[in-house]
Amino acid sequence: MHYQKIGQVIIINKNDKKLAERLLKKIPDTKTVMYKSGWIEGQFRQPKLKKLVGNGTETIHKEHGCLFKLDVSKIMWSKGNHLERLRITKLVKPGEIIVDMFAGIGYFSVPLAVHTKAKRIYSIEINPVAYGYLRENIELNKIKNIEPILGDCLNVDIDEKADRVLMGLLPSSKNYLLKAIDFVRSGGIIHYHGIDEEEPKSLERDVKKVCENCKILQRVKIKSWGPRRYHWVLDVKV
Ligand SMILES: C[S@@+](CC[C@H](N)C(=O)[O-])C[C@H]1O[C@@H](n2cnc3c(N)ncnc32)[C@H](O)[C@@H]1O
Repeated sequence: MHYQKIGQVIIINKNDKKLAERLLKKIPDTKTVMYKSGWIEGQFRQPKLKKLVGNGTETIHKEHGCLFKLDVSKIMWSKGNHLERLRITKLVKPGEIIVDMFAGIGYFSVPLAVHTKAKRIYSIEINPVAYGYLRENIELNKIKNIEPILGDCLNVDIDEKADRVLMGLLPSSKNYLLKAIDFVRSGGIIHYHGIDEEEPKSLERDVKKVCENCKILQRVKIKSWGPRRYHWVLDVKV
């Protein structure tokens, strides 16, 4: 049986209460089993889940030595991004200033703070619920160098230029590219996420349209996103 486990919460793709009861008994450290009734939607990227059995949807998920507290019924968790959450930590040099434009609960910001010697990470999040968990995750992981900011990243001004900007919004962060260029210093890196085909041609065009001299350093296929569609990230030098 295929299922996903986020902390103590199991998510299955079938509306099957008997199966949920079996999993609750059988899988250690499980408190609730939920059914995925639809796709993650909207600007806040909220999941569509229904509780089948158990109690409580708030949990702490552990990954790459980091703790992520979240309410699984309100906040998404993308297991498919786990390698990207690690890859990004290997690119950062000591002393970097980083802006995470779509920080959520700290999906990227927390591993960056835990596993690198970045000087400061500005983590911007528009959804107050996700922002609340971001703040809790900063505490839980005993992080000192994240500055959480509640608001729309388009309206945020930061006094220093960033060495690196993360644009982890799906399905598209295209409308935020100019703002990312505004955040980053000359020679800095933008990690531009989006959905594209076998090759990320349209994402490359998006970049070239707003920044002719930008250089694409890497194209990373993160995960599948429906038939012949993929979640890509481009590492772009500005
Ligand atoms: C869910 S995260 C992406 C997570 C990450 N890419 C992953 O899959 O692990 C995207 C976050 O961006 C936030 N967001 C959307 N528009 C925003 C904006 N204009 N400014 C700041 N945050 C925004 C959403 O509320 C959401 O929490």
